[in-house]
Formats: sequence, C-alpha cells, structure tokens
Amino acid sequence: MRQPLVAGNWKMNGSLDSIRSLVEGIKAGLDSVTTAELAACPPYVYIPQVAAMLEGSSIALGAQDVNDRESGAHTGEVAPGMLTDIGCKYAIVGHSERRSIYGESDEFTARKFAAARQAGLTPILCVGELLEEREQGITEQVVSRQLDAIIDLEGVGALADAVIAYEPVWAIGTGKTATPAQAQDVHAYIRGVIAREDAAVAEKVQILYGGSVKGSNAAELFAMADIDGGLIGGASLDANEFLSIGRAGNA
Ligand code: PGA
Repeated sequence: MRQPLVAGNWKMNGSLDSIRSLVEGIKAGLDSVTTAELAACPPYVYIPQVAAMLEGSSIALGAQDVNDRESGAHTGEVAPGMLTDIGCKYAIVGHSERRSIYGESDEFTARKFAAARQAGLTPILCVGELLEEREQGITEQVVSRQLDAIIDLEGVGALADAVIAYEPVWAIGTGKTATPAQAQDVHAYIRGVIAREDAAVAEKVQILYGGSVKGSNAAELFAMADIDGGLIGGASLDANEFLSIGRAGNA
C-alpha cells in the first residue's frame, strides 16, 4: 500500500505574514489528516522560516525547483545540497511552468532530477501534456518522452526514490480538473511504462495528480487505484482547503 502524499506548491506567492498564518492554520488542523503525508514547497527565500515554523510537526518541506549542479558560477540558482542543508526532503523538478515559461528541456529536467537524488532529496518529477497535445491524442507519447529522459539518464531504479506528479498542463490553475477516469488512465499508463522495466519500482513509486485539485474533488481523484495523492497549487494557499485535500487521503 502506497502512502498518499499531498504536497503544496505555493509557487511565487505569499509574504512572511501570510505564510506564517498559512502554516499556523495547517498545523492547527493537522490531527484530522490521518493517512497522507503533507508537504509544503514555499518560495526559496521563505524555506528557512517555514522550516522553523514546521519544527516538531510531521509536515515535510520541499523546494519548487533546484539546479543541476553542486556549486559554482550559476548566478541566481540554488544547489540541491543547499536544500538538504536547510531541511528540505523534496524538490519539484520539471514543473510545466519551468518547462514552458523558462524553456527547460526534458534533458535539463533529468539532470536536475539526478542532482537532487545525488544530494539526498526526493525529486517530485512533473510530467503532463498541453491541451493541443491531448487534442492530438498524443498524451501518452508526451508523458513517456518526459519519463524516458529520466530513465535514459538514471535508469528506471532511480524512480524508486522519487515521486511522479502527473499534471495535465490544461488543468493547472484553470479550474478544469481532469476527470478521475482521465487522470487514472494516464497514471495507469505511467505505472505500466515503469512496470515494463521493473515491476517492483512501478509498485512502489507514488504518482500524484496535479491540476485544480480542491477539497471538493480530491476524494474522488484519490480513490482511483493509481492516484497516490496530489500536487496542489492554488488550493494549497488556503489552510482549510489544503487540510481538506489532506483528509481526502484518510484511509
Ligand atoms: P493548481 O496548480 O492546483 O493551481 O492547478 C497545480 C500545480 O501547478 O502544481
């Protein structure tokens, strides 16, 4: 049985004040979340403060991105070892906003994935198709190309210490959620691609769904056989919504 993970991707939102009340609100209702692991991925600058706020709680900490190098002349970038140094467990890699706004390729994403693992982080690898790609019927090709970049560089075994997030780009921040059946189809496909190479890894890897998950639709998504939680954007900025998504994972 895979433990569900509900990870909040706060994106470029918040202030010290708003983040403090968000974290306090989540901590206040944490007892109601009995099964899922919760994680928070704040903007880089707030990670140390959030780490202090989370001390002693079961909420894990993650970063929204990471560089593919250990150190050096990379102005503006953050190395994976710096993230473990300040207490991060997770790092999101290959979010569609990184891929589309900042032009990050499958190969660059794979190098980030490798560097994150090397530093002891658990990468949360985002994959997913654009609306045009879904309409062209090439969702599976897109997702397998994104996965293959990782498998080619690191081997399928690397996915055993990683999390995958299937996020159809047309569902991110749009209020349009994939139906549970649409999401389940792609999740099962992803697990199948991995199972062809290594059944044990496929069984172990958590595959999260992301894209307009809310308290009101989380339970039906998480009830699907291959959906092991969610990567939550907008709704993770509201403590009650985030907790209600967390409770949707209760056994
Ligand atoms: P959303 O974002 O929940 O606001 O759609 C999800 C994500 O981008 O990870």
